[in-house]
Amino acid sequence: MAEEQIPAEFADRNQVETVRIRTADNHDAEGDLYALIGGSPAFKKLVDKFYQGVAADDVLREMYPEEDLGPAAERLQMFLEQYWGGPTTYQELRGHPRLRMRHAPYKINPDARARWLKHMRAAVDSLELPQIYEAQLWAYLDRAATAMLNTFEE
Ligand code: HEM
Repeated sequence: MAEEQIPAEFADRNQVETVRIRTADNHDAEGDLYALIGGSPAFKKLVDKFYQGVAADDVLREMYPEEDLGPAAERLQMFLEQYWGGPTTYQELRGHPRLRMRHAPYKINPDARARWLKHMRAAVDSLELPQIYEAQLWAYLDRAATAMLNTFEE
């Protein structure tokens, strides 16, 4: 999408490349976060809670091609675990993430993004993480959701 088509409120956010947050003992939480927040059970809880929200969301629910949201939940869980330094099962089963390309068939406008983030916010809150990890996780999810925008049509 051409740069000039992106409204200012989103264009600024697209400039943000990385958010670095350091823990009190001065290590970079990124990459270690998988273990720090409780490994696979924490990611399972996150994704299960998120998909409960999706299942009840008229707009998002109809975007998901499969009747059963279970396989989509597993793909998101594997991806997030890999991103945050956990097992690389996603890569082994699905190859390179190419997330923007994989989302191209779906109409991801600001409303879809806001809905996705609303359910993800509830899911992140359900983990009751220490604030430093919560902030890092959220900064990433918010930025990634902006990167997935592919239309401004209603
Ligand atoms: C912004 C709003 C978003 C919407 C409406 C959306 C919607 C979807 C839909 C409909 C699918 C197909 C379901 C499936 O068969 O797996 C999907 C797949 C996926 N999404 Fe999203 N998504 C959004 C943002 C994100 C973000 C921010 C991430 C990552 C942080 C993400 C990660 C994934 C992954 C890993 C898959 C599976 C890709 C694969 O291996 O095929 N999505 N998404």
